[in-house]
Amino acid sequence: MVGRAIAAKLAELGHTVTMGTRDPQATAARREGDAYGNPSFAAWQAAQPQIQLGTFAQAAADGELLFNCTAGGGSVAALQSAAPEDLAGKTLVDVANPLDFSHGMPPSLSVCNTDSLAETIQRTFPALKVVKALNTMNANVMVNPALLAGEHSVFVSGNDAAAKAQVTALLRSFGWRAIIDLGDLSTARGSEMVLPLWLSLMGALGTPLFNFAIAR
Ligand SMILES: NC(=O)c1ccc[n+]([C@@H]2O[C@H](COP(=O)([O-])OP(=O)(O)OC[C@H]3O[C@@H](n4cnc5c(N)ncnc54)[C@H](OP(=O)(O)O)[C@@H]3O)[C@@H](O)[C@H]2O)c1
Repeated sequence: MVGRAIAAKLAELGHTVTMGTRDPQATAARREGDAYGNPSFAAWQAAQPQIQLGTFAQAAADGELLFNCTAGGGSVAALQSAAPEDLAGKTLVDVANPLDFSHGMPPSLSVCNTDSLAETIQRTFPALKVVKALNTMNANVMVNPALLAGEHSVFVSGNDAAAKAQVTALLRSFGWRAIIDLGDLSTARGSEMVLPLWLSLMGALGTPLFNFAIAR
């Protein structure tokens, strides 16, 4: 869902996009929609002919800038399938959350407090420039903040100032205005740990279409 939303937005903005998946043939053959009413991958792709589908390794090779839109438990494995030279020096926008559904609902966080998924990825792939962003709102809001009334916030965390500036410019092109730089990548612990609150809000409000707005 997140990969599709971001890929379509990037393509709409004129970027060339390769989407990665574990098994491109199996993904392209998916004919069933998901439980949330999203169309099958095949139906979605037919409407997005300009977006290439490949392996995670191909997406890493093609991309000047990478987005991690995988399930948090699979993020390191997905990145490990890329050639190290295809990651070196590139900015990776980490949109994933370390949600663990293995004990049912609600999910717990597989990493928290003194570490985060973003830091785990940065430690495992030191040549990447990891920037945490967009993980605290629904995919439709990520790429269309005007979906919600008023000013609401997106958080950015990362160790590399130039990579954060690159991601901030991209977020502006998505329509974001209230972009809050939280600091280095350890601040991603906080943005990942709001997920239990986000999930409670979705239950209380009965919709995923909301976001955090920071009043000062
Ligand atoms: N849905 C939202 O609105 C939303 C909002 C904020 C953040 N997020 C975060 O964004 C990420 C993507 O969310 P989503 O809802 O689009 O879908 P998802 O079902 O959480 O993730 C789907 C992606 O993860 C890959 N994947 C799953 N298990 C894997 C494994 N063991 N090894 C390698 N890759 C694996 C899938 O690969 P295949 O294509 O091969 O199946 C697919 O690319 C998640 O981390 C989620 O927490 C989601």
